[in-house]
Amino acid sequence: MIGGQEAHIFMNPQEDKVVETPFQRMGGEVQVQALTDRFYDLMDLESGFQALRAAHGTELANARQKLFWFLCGWLGGPQHYTGRFGHPRLRARHLPFKIGITERDQWVSCMDQAMRETHVPEDLRVQLNEAFFKTADWMRNQEG
Ligand code: HEM
Repeated sequence: MIGGQEAHIFMNPQEDKVVETPFQRMGGEVQVQALTDRFYDLMDLESGFQALRAAHGTELANARQKLFWFLCGWLGGPQHYTGRFGHPRLRARHLPFKIGITERDQWVSCMDQAMRETHVPEDLRVQLNEAFFKTADWMRNQEG
């Protein structure tokens, strides 16, 4: 009954379908790092993201590091952010920064461009755009 034993060891009959997390589909930490780096590089480079850039301080290194840690966990990978800082409390943590419709839309477009340029699979990119929009919209703390 070797076959039977193997089946018992390697297959959980209640989980006969392997579900990949967005983190795995994206390509793990290397790709999430590439996405985060591209996101902040674009924010610095592209005139279309000026309002978003202006909402940040002079340097982006801290934000870059923290967004990478956060995204790993949020996408279903290692919980680097919560392991260090606890619950993200994103809305509360963003209250010191001006976030209106312009900043929200620039954040989402900047992330969309970064996802395209780092080759996030199309269906996942569409799904993530929607989730990012909801998160960014919920973080608005100013009219306009
Ligand atoms: C909607 C427009 C947004 C603006 C203008 C904005 C701006 C900022 C700024 C200025 C910081 C502080 C950076 C620093 O400490 O140097 C920050 C931190 C952060 N942002 Fe955003 N953000 C936005 C949306 C988002 C979204 C949608 C997410 C997640 C999906 C996010 C995740 C984070 C994280 C994880 C941090 C680090 C928080 C901490 O521990 O201090 N942000 N953001």
